[in-house]
Amino acid sequence: MDECVSRPACIGRREFLVKAGLVAGATVLTISRAGAAVIEDVTVPVTPDGPLAKVGGSQVVDSSAGKIIVLRTGEKTFAAFSALCTHKKGLLKYDGKQLVCPKHGSAFDASNGKVTAGPAEEALRSYATTLGEGSVRVAVP
Ligand code: FES
Repeated sequence: MDECVSRPACIGRREFLVKAGLVAGATVLTISRAGAAVIEDVTVPVTPDGPLAKVGGSQVVDSSAGKIIVLRTGEKTFAAFSALCTHKKGLLKYDGKQLVCPKHGSAFDASNGKVTAGPAEEALRSYATTLGEGSVRVAVP
């Protein structure tokens, strides 16, 4: 009797179709989730004469998630955020302490992307950074 669980001859046609549909749905979900988990890291060189050579430096890079601004916040620490202001998409600049928008004056905390001055109300998206040998990797989900 235990062998007669999934064969159409042993179970009703309707029950078999429901089970087959569930298996097919689970397979599609698994494939979809696997595709969403792909991470496209961006590698940004840190060269002695480049924009990230000194603390307070920054560099805007293109990624699959749009423009990202990479900040050098310390000798061995970096941070990365969306480079576009959450107000009306002005391209942000790093003044060595905070991210500022030249369009209308919004400012964002360089440690966490939170708004410190409006009119922007929404925090910046942040990205994890990893210091490598002569470069910084930015994880872009
Ligand atoms: S676009 Fe940045 S403050 Fe308006």
